[in-house]
Amino acid sequence: MEQTFIMIKPDGVQRGLVGEIIARFEKKGFTLKGLKLVSVERSFAEKHYADLSAKPFFNGLVEYIISGPVIAMVWEGKNVVLTGRKIIGATNPADSAPGTIRGDFAIDIGRNVIHGSDSVESARKEIALWFPEGVVGWQTSLQPWIYE
Ligand code: PPS
Repeated sequence: MEQTFIMIKPDGVQRGLVGEIIARFEKKGFTLKGLKLVSVERSFAEKHYADLSAKPFFNGLVEYIISGPVIAMVWEGKNVVLTGRKIIGATNPADSAPGTIRGDFAIDIGRNVIHGSDSVESARKEIALWFPEGVVGWQTSLQPWIYE
């Protein structure tokens, strides 16, 4: 089954949006496989966002991610990478539809509350980076009520 990496950024944690965000993924039917509250070092944030190191906003993005604790999660389910991105909404909250997390809770791109892997390959790399210890192997007994 497909897995994705989801991070609630420092603004989402500070603003008390953790429960709301987890509820949205849970209610959809996805399965939580890993979760931790962590304050990351600058070098770790730079590694996570290494692909963006040439972007003008890179330093600001790294400062933002290390400005407070984040919630790192692994969610599992059919098409969870793409569907997770839909639940999150467009990167710039100015373009995020109401009903999405960013559409409902964010205004500025540099405070857009949450990160989700953009492909199955990115998810694999990000899960390996954030959860080197691995995730919990469990299945919900509700599976037959979620999948046909
Ligand atoms: S890009 O330029 O197309 O590669 O960037 P994009 O895919 O839209 O976004 C990648 C991540 O960079 C963050 N981002 C920004 N942060 C701060 N300021 C500005 N201007 C900015 N533009 C993009 C964006 O939120 C993405 O972060 P994650 O954590 O992956 O959602």
